Amino acid sequence: MIIKLFESKIKYLIVGLFLGIFITTLLPKLFIKSTWEKNKQQIDLANIKNEYNFIEYSQWPPFLTDPTFDLTLWRKHCWINQISLPTQDTKLYYKKNYTAYNVCKDVISLINSIYNMKTNIAKVEYPETFAQKIRKIFNYDKTLYAKALEQELYFVMNKYTFEHTVYNPLRGRRPIQPPEVPIEQYLNETIEKTSQNCDLCNYQNMTAIDSLGRMENRYAYSAANAFKFDQWHSMFMPKQHDITKLTFEELKDIFTLAWKWFQTVHKQSPSHRFPTLLWDSLPHGGASQVHPHIHATLHSDHYYGQFESIRFASERYYREYINISKHGKKNFFRTIQDIHMAFNLTISFNGITVLIPITSRKEYDIIVLAENFDERFIKVIYQIIQGYFNKLKQFSFSSCLYLPPLSPNQDDSGLTPVYYRIIPRGQISSLLSEISSLDLLSIHNVNKLPADLFAEIITWFQEI
Ligand SMILES: *[C@@H]1O[C@H](CO)[C@@H](O)[C@H](O)[C@H]1NC(C)=O
Ligand SMILES: *[C@@H]1O[C@H](CO)[C@@H](O)[C@H](O)[C@H]1NC(C)=O
Ligand SMILES: *[C@@H]1O[C@H](CO)[C@@H](O)[C@H](O)[C@H]1NC(C)=O
Ligand SMILES: *[C@@H]1O[C@H](CO)[C@@H](O)[C@H](O)[C@H]1NC(C)=O
Ligand SMILES: *[C@@H]1O[C@H](CO)[C@@H](O)[C@H](O)[C@H]1NC(C)=O
Ligand SMILES: [Zn+2]
Repeated sequence: MIIKLFESKIKYLIVGLFLGIFITTLLPKLFIKSTWEKNKQQIDLANIKNEYNFIEYSQWPPFLTDPTFDLTLWRKHCWINQISLPTQDTKLYYKKNYTAYNVCKDVISLINSIYNMKTNIAKVEYPETFAQKIRKIFNYDKTLYAKALEQELYFVMNKYTFEHTVYNPLRGRRPIQPPEVPIEQYLNETIEKTSQNCDLCNYQNMTAIDSLGRMENRYAYSAANAFKFDQWHSMFMPKQHDITKLTFEELKDIFTLAWKWFQTVHKQSPSHRFPTLLWDSLPHGGASQVHPHIHATLHSDHYYGQFESIRFASERYYREYINISKHGKKNFFRTIQDIHMAFNLTISFNGITVLIPITSRKEYDIIVLAENFDERFIKVIYQIIQGYFNKLKQFSFSSCLYLPPLSPNQDDSGLTPVYYRIIPRGQISSLLSEISSLDLLSIHNVNKLPADLFAEIITWFQEI
């Protein structure tokens, strides 16, 4: 009995021993082996390709600046509210019988093909003492106070580019604090002080030159950036220092030189096809020098990410709608222009359209689309900048100009229009930054409705 018991104990011990060895040594090895196999696979994948495969762009219908629908009919039969943005409640924005007209259906389907729009009401309650403060902020205006209790928020999202803006017009009604230092005084002092020892004023001796040498005409010159952000990167400057005194002739000379530089670079390196001009004004706008200077770059393979994402959106739009007869002849940029025309947010010159985007990034965000880059286009840009300076007192801004891809062999695929965008960068003398996590990381917040912004810029343009 005792021996038998002893024997079975030994059996269990032996089984236990082997199990133990298995669990502690072999099992982990099996696990490690399988994860190692996985890692090995990943490493192989990583070795295969580390470059994003750019899609083949299609040949889109050309961008033209005339509307693809009858604007007069649209205004007559469809749209009643020229002030606000359309929302879920169609009764507020469209005429009674609008569904009876094809033009209404067509344009509304265009709007919906690109934008999501919705209005929300955010309710707020204020304790009495705070309510008194709010009433005072709004100058005891009862309508405004009522709006403060039920705030209208307008959300607009471009479904292709994911540009996303929330408008809260009430925020724009708050009184504006005057800047700590008066704008004129700040400008005068900053320009005086920096002009005394300005490298860009003494460009012959104090600026770098790239392999193409210096380019120069009557009012402007080129210089290499001492610290480049792209392989082909140059700068174009007026010879004089004061941005507030910039003349049209100077701006024209700057752009003319930059255009010449693009052609020269592209000839030397045909794969560099994607021209970009970037222009920041004054330190509050991100400019490192007070002397006006425009960056020009020519990138290969594609545009810089932010514009390439718009170009790619345009391709997706084209592919999604290519089989739908109503949209089949549409160009994404032209559709965006159509929609803004329908909302009365565009000013058109022959071949050039100025628009206030419904996905604005800031108040007075302005986009110009054009069929060609020419002197008239430069004139429009010049008038916008004069409007910023003289009408809005906005002296710091960031702006970009994307020119259509340069192409030696008439390759028209993915052909973007001339695209200019300018955005004010806040009060020049303010210590406050005008951008926050909203703009950089989430959604753009604009506190005036596009129609209000439009009403202000419409007077800036003389016949061109
Ligand atoms: C609505 O449209 C129909 C057909 O176009 C027309 O007969 C009718 O009078 C219109 N009604 C109103 C209120 O405009
Ligand atoms: C600054 O103000 C002084 C005095 O009014 C004036 O002489 C000077 O030209 C101004 N400078 C600039 C850059 O506007
Ligand atoms: C600066 O450049 C100009 C023109 O090239 C030249 O005449 C002048 O002597 C230079 N000045 C200095 C200090 O190098
Ligand atoms: C459009 O039509 C073509 C040819 O009939 C087809 O191959 C393609 O998948 C269609 N595209 C879409 C987005 O439906
Ligand atoms: C378009 O907007 C401008 C500026 O607010 C205004 O003057 C004009 O009457 C509007 N046009 C229409 C058709 O509503
Ligand atoms: Zn200078």
